[in-house]
Parts: sequence; structure tokens; C-alpha cells
Amino acid sequence: MNALATIIRDMIVEDGPISLERYMALALGHPAHGYYRTKTPLGASGDFITAPEISQMFGELIGLWCVEVWRLMGEPKSLHLVELGPGRGTLMADLLRAARVEPRFRSAIDLHLVETSAPLRRSQRQAIEGCGIPASWHESIEEAPSGAVIVIANEFFDALPVRHYVHQDGGWRERQVGLDAQGRLSFGLAPEPEPGLSAPGAHGEILEVGLAASHLMLTLATRIAEQGGALLAIDYGYCEPSRGETLQAVRRHGFADPLHDPGEADLTAHVDFCSLERAARAAGAQVHGPAPQGQWLARLGIFERAAMLRSHADQSQCAAIDAALERLAGTPGADSATDMARLFKVLAVTPPDFPAPPGFEMESP
Ligand SMILES: C[S@@+](CC[C@H](N)C(=O)[O-])C[C@H]1O[C@@H](n2cnc3c(N)ncnc32)[C@H](O)[C@@H]1O
Repeated sequence: MNALATIIRDMIVEDGPISLERYMALALGHPAHGYYRTKTPLGASGDFITAPEISQMFGELIGLWCVEVWRLMGEPKSLHLVELGPGRGTLMADLLRAARVEPRFRSAIDLHLVETSAPLRRSQRQAIEGCGIPASWHESIEEAPSGAVIVIANEFFDALPVRHYVHQDGGWRERQVGLDAQGRLSFGLAPEPEPGLSAPGAHGEILEVGLAASHLMLTLATRIAEQGGALLAIDYGYCEPSRGETLQAVRRHGFADPLHDPGEADLTAHVDFCSLERAARAAGAQVHGPAPQGQWLARLGIFERAAMLRSHADQSQCAAIDAALERLAGTPGADSATDMARLFKVLAVTPPDFPAPPGFEMESP
């Protein structure tokens, strides 16, 4: 049992089983031992890889997207550019480089990076060092100053804790983490059904609820509807109401047991885009998409950008560009679109009556 498992076991001995949501929040965010407090998880030597780490094209296209959104906003003289969970800072560095096409955008922005991990904050500082734009770091979005804002969140919502409810004996019981007979962490169910949950269900069916993600969306969308700007959220997720669980633990590019060595593996759940859309609309904002990542990147011109990069590249660089392109965007018109191209979704949130941002022109009602 590692240090965090011991802390959680002591909590359970003291106060009884904890919810899965609380367990996930501790495993990811415990100040001393949480995964996103202590680890540098990205890249070949880490636990997983993300789109900005696959190719510079991803962050560059998002940079051009931000410039266009700023134009659609009427070219404000000052704008906060916020990134939630910026990882190694690669996306932000590529974004700022591409945004050089519009010096007035660059002089309008200041940067706000919302990051809990001290090692990742260091990488981010290094990645954007010398960019000439003021930057500050925050523990949460609530700390970022008010005013018009563009928020970028790539693979952030999927790191927020979820609740599970399991249908049993005619009611939905919350999944909890308790201790088995040997004193090891193990899953169980709350003794009583959840009083407010009355949806019909079959025995053993699981309901996954991302309240933290919906709450964050409500906060961001309220701010955007009232103060102007846009949010761009990109994540592995689904758009239709669905049942079943998607919680997974990932360690060194493979699946792991979510209860084994908390804080050592990344815990994620697929993002429920229906709930995010509902939260954004409830806040009075407009929703664009979600669009599959591959389609959205194609509309933004990733194939043209790849052709341009290829024209200055040698044979092995061309092969690397093609592999990254296939991974991020798939092959247009082919069934072979990769998991990332198909299963990752892109959603934008703007104030009501804002024109469709780039890549969403065909999606808006
Ligand atoms: C899956 S990584 C994605 C990194 C980056 N966006 C990328 O695409 O490469 C999740 C990021 O969110 C940060 N993070 C996770 N939970 C957080 C929280 N509750 N508050 C702030 N940052 C968090 C992590 O430290 C990490 O930078």
C-alpha cells in the first residue's frame, strides 16, 4: 500500500466508505501525493500522449482559431487568454508562435495558466519563456481576473472526478470506495438508494455523472455569456445520452487497476458532452458543435498545413508529418479515421448571437 492508499484507508476506518468522486479527487489532486500534483505524465516516457505532443499543427491551428475569434469579437484591445491544464505548455507555445500573423492580437492578450502540478508549471514556464506576453499561473479558474476571455481546454474535462450510481433493488446506489476483508481498497455501494434519482434502470446498470465537469462548464459559460469571449473544449467523449461506466486508470501507456496505488496512475472518464451542452445553455451561452476532432481540424486546414510543412521536409520528416496527420485527423472520407479523429470531440461556447467560430460554420443551427 502506498502513502496515499494508507491515508485513504485511515479516512475510511475513521469515517466509513468515501464516494468514488472523492476517491478520484484525492487520487488526482491530493496536495502531497495526487497524480496531477507530483507527476510529469505526458510523452513517450510518461503515461499517455496528447494531441499537442503529437504535432505542432494542433496548437498552431488553435492559435489561428483564437486570432479569428478575437476578430469576431471586434478586436478588443485587451483579452485574457486562459488555458486549463496546459500540460507541458506545448499547445500554448505553438499557439503563440502561429499567432504572430496578427501582432495586434498578441499585444491585446495576457496569459493565465490554470495548473495544479508544480512540475508541469515549470515545464510550461520554460515552453513559453521569452514569448514577450505577461503570464500568470492559477490553482483554479476562479482566480483568473474578470473580463473578456478565450479559454482553451484540451483533455482537461476528462480529468475531473465522476460519480457512479448502480441500479440495484429498485434504486440507484452510489458507488463507494471502502475496505475489503484484507483491509485493501475495494468498491462497494451505498447502503441506501440516492433519494433524488428516480430514472428507470435495469438491475446492475451504471449511471456515470460528471457533476464537477458540469459545474465548471456552468462557471465558464456564465462568464462568457456576461463578459464576452469563447471557450474551446476538446476531449474524448460522447454526445448522446448514455449508460455505463467509462472510468479508466492509465499508467505507462497501458490500463491499470484504479484502486491500486492511488496517485500513480491517471484516472479519467469520457466526457459527457450532452451534460456540458446543457450546462452551457442553462448559463445563457451559445454552443457550437460538438464536432469530431478530425472533421474540425480538416475544416481549419490541417491538410493544407501538413502539405506546407512537407514541402520543406526531408523523407523521414515527411513520414512523421503524415503519421501525425493520420493520428490527429484521420483520412478524409475514409472509414479508417483514427480513434483520436473520431472519438475526440470539439465544442465551443460563445455569448448568444455570436457568429459560428472557425470549424463550426456547418454545425450551428
Ligand atoms: C491530460 S493532461 C492534458 C495536458 C494538455 N492540455 C495537453 O493537451 O497536452 C491534464 C492537465 O490538466 C492539469 N490538471 C488536472 N486536474 C487539474 C485541476 N483540477 N486543476 C488544474 N489543473 C489540472 C494537469 O496537471 C495537466 O496539465
